[in-house]
Amino acid sequence: MGNSQELYEKAKKLIPGGTQLLSKRPEMHLPGLWPAYYKTAKGCYVTDLDNNTYCDMSFMGIGANILGYCDEDVDKAVIDAVNSGSMCTLNAPEEVELAETLLEIHPWADMVRYARTGGEALSVAVRIARASVGKEIVLVCGYHGWHDWYLAANLEKGDPLSYVHLSGLEPKGVPSGLADTNFIFAYNDYARFEELVCKYRGQIAAVVMEPIRNVYPQENFLQKIREVTKEEGIVLIFDEVSAGFRLCCGGSHLKLGVTPDMITLGKALGNGYPMAAVAGTEKYMKAAQDTFISSTYWTEKIGPAASIAVIKKYKEKKVDEHINHIGTLVKEGLGRLADKYAIDIEITGINPLAHFEFKYEQPLVYKTYFTQEMLKRGYLATNAVYASYAHTDATVVEYLGAVDEVFHMIAKLGGGLPVLDGEVCHSGFQRLA
Ligand SMILES: Cc1ncc(COP(=O)(O)O)c(C=O)c1O
Repeated sequence: MGNSQELYEKAKKLIPGGTQLLSKRPEMHLPGLWPAYYKTAKGCYVTDLDNNTYCDMSFMGIGANILGYCDEDVDKAVIDAVNSGSMCTLNAPEEVELAETLLEIHPWADMVRYARTGGEALSVAVRIARASVGKEIVLVCGYHGWHDWYLAANLEKGDPLSYVHLSGLEPKGVPSGLADTNFIFAYNDYARFEELVCKYRGQIAAVVMEPIRNVYPQENFLQKIREVTKEEGIVLIFDEVSAGFRLCCGGSHLKLGVTPDMITLGKALGNGYPMAAVAGTEKYMKAAQDTFISSTYWTEKIGPAASIAVIKKYKEKKVDEHINHIGTLVKEGLGRLADKYAIDIEITGINPLAHFEFKYEQPLVYKTYFTQEMLKRGYLATNAVYASYAHTDATVVEYLGAVDEVFHMIAKLGGGLPVLDGEVCHSGFQRLA
């Protein structure tokens, strides 16, 4: 056991769940072997506590580091913000500059509020929506954070959130009074959406959904939702926390051609520095003044300073084109290698958030094995590749070289189960020992 794994064992005794984010639990990737902690991260390379350096072909800061780790331009803006005092009794003028920038990118929107995490931004957006229309029910598609308004969906029996996110998310601690304030529909399941709208007509405040993630909208799914929400006076909130800045600068809805009433942005907006935003039309956003939404650290300077630098660089370097290109190379390469070795995988996801699933009886065993063998070859790799500006064509070629070897090993199993050096990875939420 290396220093990283040892520290994680200690962490689990001191920090319930070991870490603050489910996706950063080593158990989600390679139990007992995933290098839980990093010493340094630069570009797309990460060095762990045992001085092993890996190329990150996985989540790149769980979707945050779209420009790569430790980006010089963003870091410079942050260092300037630190040197000029990152917190003060007065407000940071960067908030206003960022608002203008975000509204220029999203011309349909009139006003902006800030938070520092995606989940906070969603809570703010839902509160504003409920306050503005004076209704309570929210129809939800996808993952939108850990807060009560969202987890309340699982107060209903049958683990509804497993259809749109993960299994086993217990709503313990969420007041039972929030039951029936939140109902789930799956992406592209328009029939279910329509059923919910009919059933709760007149009581629905908002629809909260990712405009895109793993699959493209089918049969005008987004347009139809837009029409119905407009007719019914329901606030349409597109959660762009993960989808934003992948297809273009700002929200992916700009590319998909459907205009919501509000959006939430996070993750890539700060390239690793905490920053999140809610943008929307004045009609709804002004309700933020009719309810109480306020937090001390939503006013510090580093977040907006970082975001301004991220957006500037994103535009200058045409990062959308780059990550789409990298993602295309990854998807094509994975498909080619799967064909070469007759490995049954399904490749999905928008190009910058490529994803694949092993289509075998025990897919998690194969996924764990893939991670295990890729780690031995110097890669942080799982069944998702989040492209960043720091990845180059050469990075992808080398990565595919390692995938070639691992797929070859899987092919040689002839349908038998691979042998794991540790335990199989978790898929949903599980309490840790
Ligand atoms: C679509 C979406 N919304 C909200 C969130 C929550 O963001 P955060 O983890 O920053 O609270 C996430 C995080 O993965 C997400 O993917």
